[in-house]
Amino acid sequence: MQNRLKYWLLFAVVSALALTGLSTAQAAFEDDEACLMCHKYPRMGRVTEDGVFRSYSVPPEMFSNTVHRNVPCRDCHNYIKELPHRPVETGVTCDQECHTKKNPATGKPFSHKPVYDLFQNSVHARGKIAEGLDANKPYCISCHTNPLYNPDQTEPPKKVVDRCELCHEKLDFVTQWYSHTSRRVLEVKRSGEEIVALCSRCHSNEKMLERHAAAAEEAGEPLGKKFLIAAKSYEESFHGKVTKYGFEGAATCLDCHADQENYYRGVHGILSSRDPASPTHKNNRVEACRQCHEYADEKFLAVDPHPSFDAKYNPVLHKAEAIYGVVGNGVVIALIGLSLFETFGRRRDGVGWRIRWGSTWWRRSKRKRKRIIPK
Ligand code: HEC
Ligand code: HEC
Ligand code: HEC
Ligand code: HEC
Ligand code: HEC
Ligand code: HEC
Ligand code: HEC
Repeated sequence: MQNRLKYWLLFAVVSALALTGLSTAQAAFEDDEACLMCHKYPRMGRVTEDGVFRSYSVPPEMFSNTVHRNVPCRDCHNYIKELPHRPVETGVTCDQECHTKKNPATGKPFSHKPVYDLFQNSVHARGKIAEGLDANKPYCISCHTNPLYNPDQTEPPKKVVDRCELCHEKLDFVTQWYSHTSRRVLEVKRSGEEIVALCSRCHSNEKMLERHAAAAEEAGEPLGKKFLIAAKSYEESFHGKVTKYGFEGAATCLDCHADQENYYRGVHGILSSRDPASPTHKNNRVEACRQCHEYADEKFLAVDPHPSFDAKYNPVLHKAEAIYGVVGNGVVIALIGLSLFETFGRRRDGVGWRIRWGSTWWRRSKRKRKRIIPK
């Protein structure tokens, strides 16, 4: 009951604010549903039961720069049916159908469901509300934020839109469609470095990975051999090193792990290397390397894209490293030992530790040998 009262109070305050502000701020896009009448206010929000402030503010100038600026609020927030709104449970999921936007190719209501379904068959499958281990996997919004797809807001070239306008008559229409397609044609996408950073955010989180590996082991479906060290070992690889220094073209995570038949589909359908349909499955690996290394064959696969010196992963490399270690350390220890012996001998001889004329040999030795370097 008390909760109800709180809702009404907040509702009343916000409504009053909205009505007074109505004439001043103008929405930068068509707010047909008048949601921004209330939601444009910067401090609009609510303190949750856990004492956390949750912002409900949607700044119009920010929203009008997002990829979804043409989608009416309620196409996504379809559970908002009345004012004041009822408490929200699941919220917006990425497989919803738009009520107003149709897919011009199929004539059906637009939806990301095809991507969503693909994703649900991938190694990262999870729902929006996830608990336990599933919560460690990425959801759509873990990877997708708006700035990436709106790199610049420059006007389209006049020469092009003038041509479109000749037939379509409305400049708004052609500008919108030009922007819609040009971003994709110009390949606005993540750079190699950004992809590695995206995947490494989770795949270098050792504690989280260990929990997953342990749970999978327990369930009798162990994860991949390189699961625990994937990101770290990639950094050690040739590809990782050159990518780190900004070289575009060397293999990044998605060049190998995403099916390249349709890259954009592939990135959402990543499979484990144990799955025969995965490009990283041992039967498909040569093909994966051949995308770039034209002459790759079975022998080429001896080069591990996830190299490790750990005995658990590569006993041969581990032994080689161990031998190098012994030899390397041996040489250093022998050198230091030799110097110590020499010093000890000289001290016994009474030769002091002083550098003069570029030498410590400056005093007569106890055994009466002449050790003084003439001037
Ligand atoms: C008259 C003012 C007003 C209008 C108009 C309005 N809202 Fe709200 N909205 C509120 C208030 C107040 C809250 C906070 C309610 C609460 O704490 O439960 C809120 C909360 C929300 C929330 C968060 C709910 C939650 O509990 O997580 C969403 C989502 C939302 N509104 C969407 C919309 C959409 C979409 C529209 C347009 C159809 C809209 N609102 C129109 C006042 C308004
Ligand atoms: C493309 C879909 C989409 C559109 C269009 C959209 N939103 Fe949202 N909105 C989301 C998602 C996703 C969230 C994150 C909260 C969640 O997971 O439910 C969110 C969060 C919110 C919240 C905070 C709710 C909370 O519980 O924290 C408010 C308020 C809100 N949106 C209002 C609006 C308003 C007003 C508009 C129109 C101007 C709008 N949204 C348009 C998808 C959308
Ligand atoms: C692990 C990260 C990741 C997750 C999770 C993810 N995506 Fe993507 N998505 C990408 C990458 C990478 C691209 C390729 C473009 C790029 O490089 O940004 C992409 C591209 C897209 C595109 C094409 C965008 C455009 O304008 O060209 C859509 C649409 C899309 N994803 C929707 C989704 C949906 C819906 C989900 C949830 C079911 C999802 N993605 C989950 C990484 C991800
Ligand atoms: C010579 C005239 C002409 C020019 C120039 C032209 N269009 Fe079109 N456009 C058409 C016609 C006619 C159709 C309908 C085609 C059909 O349905 O087969 C169309 C269809 C479209 C559609 C599909 C609309 C829908 O809802 O199905 C888009 C989008 C579009 N044009 C954008 C553009 C853009 C952007 C340019 C400039 C780069 C452009 N057009 C230049 C004549 C033209
Ligand atoms: C939000 C965290 C997160 C992000 C971001 C992420 N992953 Fe994952 N990934 C996981 C988790 C957690 C698992 C373990 C899934 C399980 O337990 O089955 C996993 C599993 C995998 C597996 C299969 C492991 C196996 O042994 O079956 C591959 C391959 C993989 N991820 C590749 C990638 C690539 C490539 C990217 C970047 C595009 C990426 N991941 C981004 C969290 C993430
Ligand atoms: C040159 C190709 C290549 C690149 C680049 C690459 N991988 Fe791999 N990855 C593989 C292959 C092949 C395997 C299987 C290796 C094995 O089992 O010995 C694998 C295994 C894995 C595994 C273990 C799960 C499984 O499917 O066996 C994960 C997780 C993983 N990679 C993530 C990543 C991430 C994250 C990146 C980027 C930081 C990355 N990979 C870069 C080829 C690559
Ligand atoms: C997306 C393209 C791409 C893919 C896929 C790819 N590589 Fe590479 N790789 C490169 C580039 C670029 C270089 C740097 C070439 C240079 O300048 O020497 C490189 C370098 C190498 C090198 C260093 C020595 C050399 O030949 O130059 C090895 C070894 C290697 N890759 C192995 C592999 C293996 C094994 C696979 C498959 C599991 C693979 N690569 C997949 C692009 C790729």
